[in-house]
Amino acid sequence: MARILTGVKPTGTLTLGNYIGVLKNLKSLQNEGEMFIFIADLHALTLPIEPSILTKNSIDIACFYLAAGLDPKKNTIFLQSSVSEHAELAIILQNYLYMGELSRMTQYKDQSIKLNQNAIGLGIFAYPVLMASDILLYDVDTIPVGEDQVQHVELTRDLANRFNKRYGDTFTLPQPLVNKVGKRIMSLSDPTKKMSKSDSKGDIYLLDDEKTIRKKIMSAVTDLDNTIKYDVNKKPGISNLLTIYAALSDCSIEEAEKHFSGCGYGDFKKEVAEVVVKELVPFQERYQEILSSGAYKEALEEGAKKAKAVASKTLLRVKEKIGLVTL
Ligand code: TRP
Repeated sequence: MARILTGVKPTGTLTLGNYIGVLKNLKSLQNEGEMFIFIADLHALTLPIEPSILTKNSIDIACFYLAAGLDPKKNTIFLQSSVSEHAELAIILQNYLYMGELSRMTQYKDQSIKLNQNAIGLGIFAYPVLMASDILLYDVDTIPVGEDQVQHVELTRDLANRFNKRYGDTFTLPQPLVNKVGKRIMSLSDPTKKMSKSDSKGDIYLLDDEKTIRKKIMSAVTDLDNTIKYDVNKKPGISNLLTIYAALSDCSIEEAEKHFSGCGYGDFKKEVAEVVVKELVPFQERYQEILSSGAYKEALEEGAKKAKAVASKTLLRVKEKIGLVTL
């Protein structure tokens, strides 16, 4: 059975974009393979973050996964930091990625421009090493990621190849699976930009209340020609709302266009808001229940145990290959 692995960094509040692009996708993947889903809390430390926020975000994400319908019995859901093999393998693998290739990574380049040169932690530079460890520990075939993470998966493949050539077959080569076009949800205030968890305007957060959700959608930026058509270049705002509607109503963009043909923008937005509210309000109720009952703890403990069983075997294999004495 195919193995799928994905991680999310608990650095911000998740948005409707994460819900449609990640949570809903994962739910549909859970019958296609064995899934490892983790919260990349060690990666969250690569940029400054308040401890209380890191804790809250990590717990929230676990509850979101469960509230979205991911079955903790079928899937392995865990915190990266509770499976110490991730950090241990990273210490080994850091020797097989080179300074040159790490400094050419887009994410590192973007972030190092924003940061004070004297205050860039080693962790942000070595980010791809830890990410490669996350992936290679589980002999994974498929990594569902956003476009911005493809480069990391490719570097992981390079590393795995390099290691396998030197020590003989050790790691499975992972394949990135980029979310299908049309699943990219854009900001409501600037539909040419991705709806991202670090940008507060134009985002619908998963815990926004009903009134806020409706208000944000009703004030989404559109255009002046008053026809509801999917055209990302000419009509990014309308296309984004059609994408949201189609994703949440499980219909195609064409069907959504047909459904709204002849409709005014006001009524269109009202109906989009309605499907979002219908999806998110019950989701929020499940989230609250999972949070207050503490059900997430059990799931994470169970997940860490299952993950560790797989990860410790891989780590042992690696140690033996490179000549570390294992007792
Ligand atoms: N870097 C990913 C992100 O920022 C999170 C992540 C960490 C990840 N390790 C991973 C994703 C391994 C997939 C596989 O979104």
